[in-house]
Amino acid sequence: MKTTLHIGQTLIFGDSPFEASPEESAVHESRAGVLVVGGRIAATGSAEDLRRSNPHAQVLDHGRRLILPGFIDAHAHFPQTAIIASWGKRLIDWLNTYTFPEEARFGDPAYAAAIAATYLDLCLANGITTAASYCTIHPESVDALFEAAETRGLRWVAGKVMMDRNAPVDLRDTAQSGYDFSKALLNKWHNRARMTYAITPRFAPTSSHDQLEAAGALWSEFPNCPMQTHLCEQIEEIAWVRELYPDARDYFDVYQRAGLAGPGAVMGHAIHLGEREWQAIADTGTHIAHCPTSNTFIGSGLFDMARAQTASIPTGLATDVGGGSSFSMLRTMAAAYEISQLRGAPLHPAQLIWLATQGSAQSLRLEDRIGSIAVGMEADLITLDLASTPAIAQRQARAETIWEAVFPTIMMGDDRAVQVVSIAG
Ligand code: GUN
Ligand code: ZN
Repeated sequence: MKTTLHIGQTLIFGDSPFEASPEESAVHESRAGVLVVGGRIAATGSAEDLRRSNPHAQVLDHGRRLILPGFIDAHAHFPQTAIIASWGKRLIDWLNTYTFPEEARFGDPAYAAAIAATYLDLCLANGITTAASYCTIHPESVDALFEAAETRGLRWVAGKVMMDRNAPVDLRDTAQSGYDFSKALLNKWHNRARMTYAITPRFAPTSSHDQLEAAGALWSEFPNCPMQTHLCEQIEEIAWVRELYPDARDYFDVYQRAGLAGPGAVMGHAIHLGEREWQAIADTGTHIAHCPTSNTFIGSGLFDMARAQTASIPTGLATDVGGGSSFSMLRTMAAAYEISQLRGAPLHPAQLIWLATQGSAQSLRLEDRIGSIAVGMEADLITLDLASTPAIAQRQARAETIWEAVFPTIMMGDDRAVQVVSIAG
């Protein structure tokens, strides 16, 4: 079996930095080894000890670079790759002006394959080794993304968007066809190679009551799949949901009533939540994906991470490409930090790194496979150069702790900081 020994700096979390003191939640080693056998982590420890006990391992010495688990993006839209950074609209106008016309092109398998390839190349360049991506209503878009991920050996999560109203005619399915196509794709892709199928009703405004019920029925047949949708992103959107679903207690209740709440349900954004919604999300064990660059770019608002953590809501970090304005998980961490500052509760570098790895893995119920450096985990690993630009290098030269050394890269780093991306070893 292929045996590889990665040597470099490591940061290995013992506890969640939201539960333990952030500084002490991870152990830092400046010269450590991560032994990978057959694509899984077989041992961690002193570089010299592991080198001595594994004389036949291929050694990859990363020097001073920091070895981390690959970043995990808990919520993205691969079909929006080519319209990222589109100017000047709020959510509903942004969807109608930029997003829907682009998504209409994904019935063409060749176009879907080309964008899937570009998207995965950008993810890997930025150290994202797993993402949960929405596709479009077209089954072709799901096949294109999963085929591209499978070819690259990646662990990926994706699903066909279900959308049967308030969208252009050529982007609508029906309650029945949305269910049928989703189920066929689920049966084709879920647990094939490293693929996970996510049941994906886009959001309450673009699904009829019947379609949300159909999505809930499908999820009850396959409860181990994730279910992903959007919740309480913008004020105007929430008012619209109130009109569309006058009987619901609130936006989250629309999903609750359709059987779309609970462990494995990942709510994108969840910014403007009422008291009942916070309580119900926690009580049902529902998960959240925090999308900080999107929340500022589309002008949505400031997510309350401190409250989500206090309520023990599994919360991942997400680019939300292309409402999000960056493919970089480092830039996404920086935006999460800035939002936490605006809310008066600055996230610690340990918390930011944890959210981008183990937190996102937990939000997708994949924490037993990816998101941490521990024996038995799949070895999707990246290395970060903590001095990748002159500005970062001069700042980190003054660092006295690993957290001070890594924070300039979190705040100012980009794909230049990501040096090695190793998939399954
Ligand atoms: N709400 C419904 N669809 C979308 C989308 O594609 N992006 C974002 N940011 N919010 C949404
Ligand atoms: Zn989204």
